[in-house]
Amino acid sequence: MDSIRVVGGNPISGQVTVHGAKNAVLKHMVAMLLAPGRYRLDNVPGILDVDIMGEVLDHVGATCVRRGSVIEVDVPEELNPEAPLDLVRRMRASILILGALLARMGTARVALPGGDDFGSRPIGMHLEGLEQMGAEFELRHGVLEGSAPNGLSGTEIFLEFPSVGATENLLLAAVLAKGRTVIGNAAREPELADLAALLNAMGAEVEGAGTSTIEITGVPTLHPTDHTVVADRLVAGTYALAAAATGGTLEVRGCNPDFLRMELRKMEAAGCGVVRGDTWFSVVGPERPIAQDIATLPYPGFHTDMHPQMVAFLARAKGTSILTENVYAARFRYIGELNRMGADVHADGQHVVIRGVTDLSGCEVDGCDIRAAAALTIAGLSAEGETIIGDAEHIDRGYDGFVDILRSLGADIDR
Ligand code: UD1
Repeated sequence: MDSIRVVGGNPISGQVTVHGAKNAVLKHMVAMLLAPGRYRLDNVPGILDVDIMGEVLDHVGATCVRRGSVIEVDVPEELNPEAPLDLVRRMRASILILGALLARMGTARVALPGGDDFGSRPIGMHLEGLEQMGAEFELRHGVLEGSAPNGLSGTEIFLEFPSVGATENLLLAAVLAKGRTVIGNAAREPELADLAALLNAMGAEVEGAGTSTIEITGVPTLHPTDHTVVADRLVAGTYALAAAATGGTLEVRGCNPDFLRMELRKMEAAGCGVVRGDTWFSVVGPERPIAQDIATLPYPGFHTDMHPQMVAFLARAKGTSILTENVYAARFRYIGELNRMGADVHADGQHVVIRGVTDLSGCEVDGCDIRAAAALTIAGLSAEGETIIGDAEHIDRGYDGFVDILRSLGADIDR
């Protein structure tokens, strides 16, 4: 097991350019299965989840070659339409091949993922929507077998909750379905809009992605294309909070600050100086933040994947903050670790109560999951003494060059 060692006290300052978004590139790779041929993706982060999705594509029969921040994908005419359990277990986003494979091959077999650290993450909305389009599902020996005996047909689907994954699965299925599909109460994430841009460049007819109503007119075939992945707003936000928590001054380049509107607004209210440009923003951290009340919500609300990092920042606030987690039933494992560092945080139902303390002190903590590991690093950067974050592999799932970047920004940190 790897660990990250950080000695707190240095401000995180300077300039950082963010890489492409994990939560976009994984979907883009799946979208490429919709038409045979050669594709090129630019601004691809060197993260573990991209490697795992590469394995999923390999399993399906496509070839995936990475050169630096570029991947080239070659998709054959015939695909093996299945995702096995070991891959789905390692990365839940593998479930997205369901819509794409049903659309392209009329059949798909995907091992059903179990719950994870955020409580159970069901896929009922994915399946109901695909059923409305004409798919049938059967669960056999832990494997979900989907088929579309008469092909998929466009229809009106209204989601119970603007689920990112369900919206994407339905979008991927609808681009090749017969007729017009309308997805109401759709997720509005910028990564989803980027997926729609890729699909349209492949010849699809998608309108309204990025709003809560997406209209798709099915086309008979698509063609390959090149695409540059949108910036990772979660990476941008994580470095911004690292600067904020350490009283640093950081310019974050390559990311539209509108994608972090709510997160930056809360940071400003907490006492950060924020300047916004078109594809950059800068943050100046306060000596100690002012307590804030925050609720995580689907985009454009405060992102649940910024929750643990924000709590790490508010751990040293003047006053008591309350963060309400509305997206996941349980995302609280990091709290015990943060408290080992001297924070005073507790969860009460879906509410996280953060009583600000003057100082955190470094110790050994467990990385838990990707955003928890990022949050504990932020806590470590602002704590007194040395923090060792165990299970550091979690960071590799979503942050390319995390330790080196923080070191270049002034942190005393190594792996
Ligand atoms: C995506 C992101 C993840 C982010 C999340 C919310 C990727 C690879 N992951 O995950 O980082 O935290 O969006 O912004 O892009 N739900 C159901 N039934 C369903 C589908 C979802 O109840 O059929 C629930 C989930 O359990 C969860 C909530 O809806 O509580 C949000 O899930 P969803 O938006 O689907 O997240 P993901 O697409 O899995």
